[in-house]
Amino acid sequence: MSINCDPRIMRASSSRPLKGEVSIPGDKSISHRSLILGALAIGQTRITGLLEGQDVLDTARAMVSFGAQVEKVEGGEWHVEGVGVGGFAEPETVVDCGNSGTGVRLIMGAMATTPINVTFTGDHSLNSRPMGRVTDPLSKFGVATFGRSKGRLPMTIVGARSPIPIQYTVPVPSAQVKSALLLASLNVPGDTIITETEKTRDHTERMLSSFGAEIKVEDYSNRRLITLSGYSELKGQIVRVPSDPSSAAFPICAAITVEGSDILVPNITLNETRAGLFTTLIEMGANLSFENEREESGEPVADIRACFSPDLQGIEVPPERAASMIDEYPILAVVAANASGETRMRGVRELRVKESDRIDAMAKGLRSNGVSVDEGEDWWIVKGNGAGSVKGGSTCQTFLDHRIAMSFLILGLSSQKYIEIDDCSPINTSFPNFIQLMRELGANLEARG
Ligand code: S3P
Repeated sequence: MSINCDPRIMRASSSRPLKGEVSIPGDKSISHRSLILGALAIGQTRITGLLEGQDVLDTARAMVSFGAQVEKVEGGEWHVEGVGVGGFAEPETVVDCGNSGTGVRLIMGAMATTPINVTFTGDHSLNSRPMGRVTDPLSKFGVATFGRSKGRLPMTIVGARSPIPIQYTVPVPSAQVKSALLLASLNVPGDTIITETEKTRDHTERMLSSFGAEIKVEDYSNRRLITLSGYSELKGQIVRVPSDPSSAAFPICAAITVEGSDILVPNITLNETRAGLFTTLIEMGANLSFENEREESGEPVADIRACFSPDLQGIEVPPERAASMIDEYPILAVVAANASGETRMRGVRELRVKESDRIDAMAKGLRSNGVSVDEGEDWWIVKGNGAGSVKGGSTCQTFLDHRIAMSFLILGLSSQKYIEIDDCSPINTSFPNFIQLMRELGANLEARG
């Protein structure tokens, strides 16, 4: 996959009204899972709408190294011939997951209960992120791990020879951890029970069930219990990947903040474990409407219309909503900078261990462009001065983080002076045609030397 924006410095400047319809690429979370479950299934899985971002392509390559066949066929569909649960072969060489925390953590889970040794690595960002949250519970199945200090990659995982089922309460709100453990439990005799005390995205549970796993989900007021009975066979499926709400968030927030804009973003999932940003934007007074609401492939879906919203108000975002919008805080901060008053975001410690420390990265870039930000370990406050009030004029560091890069480009479209980012290449991990699609809507984005 080519990098779409060369040279890497990119400048965003005040734009004419954004207009038109924009077709968002496939959901990243569902794309990773469709390849991994396809590789663990017997028979063929056919995937339409797969996100062809670098993160997902790295997962596809990894599945091939474990013995699955993965190919893109004419018409754009992807086909996966799986090897069955427990059928992963030992890769010939190191598995490089690039920038993707989701890729590496889910694949670690998927191989952990098969008796093979696998060494994982990634880019500088991924190799700095904590893996202990996955490898600690995996060790309870009988897995051994040898990594760098603080549980960082590169790391070798020795899959369990005679894995035993576990009962585990996930201590951080993380769909990646939950999913890794569920994938590991597929090749374990008996029932593995995973509890989460905050509901996180549930794509793994939904997809495991449709691939034929024996999985039971029980919802209580303060926890969710997921029981997976091991050794059930997965069967190849047809997967239609919906558009990614986390990618849709960028043009939607651009339309809300650029004067005169009116855009339509079709086919966005409103799965309650992903839709927290939309609830928050409406509470702030954003002009958003949901058209043609329907169900597709078991997911609630709508076409979202977003229009310029001149009277946004800062709000307190409830911490219990954090998991359902965890990837959207950077772009929410851009909207908050264009709102009147403070937007307070609490219970967001997890933002510090994403592709970058996202509170730190956003605070630095916002401050250098004239926006006031306060922060603590698990909270931050953005102080907005209303629509079009951001001064701009500076270059933001993106720290190998696609969402930081896209957020500052969107901020530059409504700021008084341009905003530059030092490196637009990370955008390719999740939204390869972002620059082109934004330009088609009318965004003023210019590559710089
Ligand atoms: C994801 C889970 C989230 C999210 C990431 C995708 C997934 O990470 O930030 O972009 O697909 O499971 P955590 O599990 O670390 O919260």
